[in-house]
Amino acid sequence: MERGSAERSVVIGEPAAVAAIDLRPSIEAFIRAAPNNLFLKGHLDAIDEPVDVPRFLHRFLLFNDALAARVPYLAGLIHLTPDLFLDPGREVGFLSQANARIAAHVAEAAADEYRIENGQNMVHQHLSQIFFRAVLRQCWPGDPGAFERAHPTPPAITALLSEARSKFFAAPDPAMIFAALGFHVGLEFFANEEFNLVDRYLRDRQPAMVAALENGGEKFSDYTWLSLHTFVEIGHYRAGLEAVNRAVATWRDPATAPKMAETIMDGLRAFADLQHRYYRAVFAETA
Ligand SMILES: [Fe+2]
Ligand SMILES: [Fe+2]
Repeated sequence: MERGSAERSVVIGEPAAVAAIDLRPSIEAFIRAAPNNLFLKGHLDAIDEPVDVPRFLHRFLLFNDALAARVPYLAGLIHLTPDLFLDPGREVGFLSQANARIAAHVAEAAADEYRIENGQNMVHQHLSQIFFRAVLRQCWPGDPGAFERAHPTPPAITALLSEARSKFFAAPDPAMIFAALGFHVGLEFFANEEFNLVDRYLRDRQPAMVAALENGGEKFSDYTWLSLHTFVEIGHYRAGLEAVNRAVATWRDPATAPKMAETIMDGLRAFADLQHRYYRAVFAETA
């Protein structure tokens, strides 16, 4: 585990963390070495049956919806668990609790997920439904509801979606919460990669569909779900890094902080493994 001077944003009124462990170098070294992006890009480029485009996009949005749903849950779970994260060297009891501030870094992503802006419903699940209906209008001759009947989600993918929703939530003890934080950082980082890869693929290989969905480049379009995720996820990832570094810095037992940092890395590795298995199952459908 690397130690170093963590890049920290200074928040007025927050006590400085002691003996900071900056997980960013370890996380980014792991991510750089992971095969996930190359695998996804290679298989996207190999799609040749027209129906495999909406089928891939359907599985892609199901995975993202399952992962999005766990973000507010994790934020709530951290806030619901007192005496785990404590400001070192401060008062005892309620005055030392740091859990809501750690939850807040996770909740940044949750707030985007459920955004209602100037009366416009920007809830990401809703935007993904708008996106997918428009995709089907472009490349599916039947009525939209018939698509899921014709291409039902296979049991292997349903099981992986269930794992995506519940991983590290079965019995939330401290180790599980730290692993869930590592999983969270992973899902935010890889979401940025995934959405940018899929956007690039669609623009290069399905330009007519993208043009139709973008509706002449209007600010809000059927393509909004995809385009907004090409830039919001990196902010969620940075907030997730802040959450994991602060979680380790405020863990109630500083002597075991390096062990908890390693548990975060286990969670990150578990996400990369799950995402890899998910897309293997998705592309196995069309093989
Ligand atoms: Fe989202
Ligand atoms: Fe996100």
